[in-house]
Amino acid sequence: MAAQGIADAVQAYTGLSPAAAFTVLALMLATYLIVSTLFVAPDAAPSAPAAHPKPPQQQEEGTEAEAEAEPEPFVPPFPDPVQVGEITLEQLRAYDGKDPAKSILIAIRGQVYDVSRGRLFYGPQGPYSLFAGRDASRALALMSFDLNDLTGDLEGLSPDELEVLQDWEEKFKERYPVVGHLPGENGTAGAQPDHEAEKA
Ligand code: HEM
Repeated sequence: MAAQGIADAVQAYTGLSPAAAFTVLALMLATYLIVSTLFVAPDAAPSAPAAHPKPPQQQEEGTEAEAEAEPEPFVPPFPDPVQVGEITLEQLRAYDGKDPAKSILIAIRGQVYDVSRGRLFYGPQGPYSLFAGRDASRALALMSFDLNDLTGDLEGLSPDELEVLQDWEEKFKERYPVVGHLPGENGTAGAQPDHEAEKA
């Protein structure tokens, strides 16, 4: 009896037979479920493996409540690349990203790159800030974060390590403008790591 009453009501409201009305309803539900799976909630997004250094934009990630409490700080646009010509390692140190008015510079095999647009990598909070204002040649060849490797000295590097350096150099050439060069025959001035030279 009740079923007949529901069937009559469905027919009266939709103008469709109960079977047709329920088919339409089922199709709408299926469409909704398919479409909703296309939008994955941020929490469900896969996270980087534990050993993987977090990409810079994720470094300061907090809870939603924290994000609401502390609005994103204003980040001024980075300065336009400025040609510095020949620059010593000592002068290069001033371009380490700590002064937002100054470009961030990195030397690789004698060439000085303006990496300001990569400041999320090389700025003071970035994962690669140790390279900023330095000659990063040896460190990049060795994939090393050791301060002793912040030098243009390529002595004793294997062909494979030199190839790694070459790859980095190509990557930097593609991404960043060359704005100067280090003094010296091949530009790799100073066999001492920068921080050792500073102590001297
Ligand atoms: C667990 C090891 C590491 C992982 C998973 C990792 C991951 C990454 C990722 C995902 C990027 C961004 C790539 C892009 O935007 O194209 C990056 C950039 C970079 N990585 Fe690493 N990294 C690692 C170790 C190192 C080491 C040991 C060095 C050098 C000593 C290094 C130097 C760099 C540099 C210089 C960049 C920035 C390139 C640019 O300016 O575009 N990384 N890394």
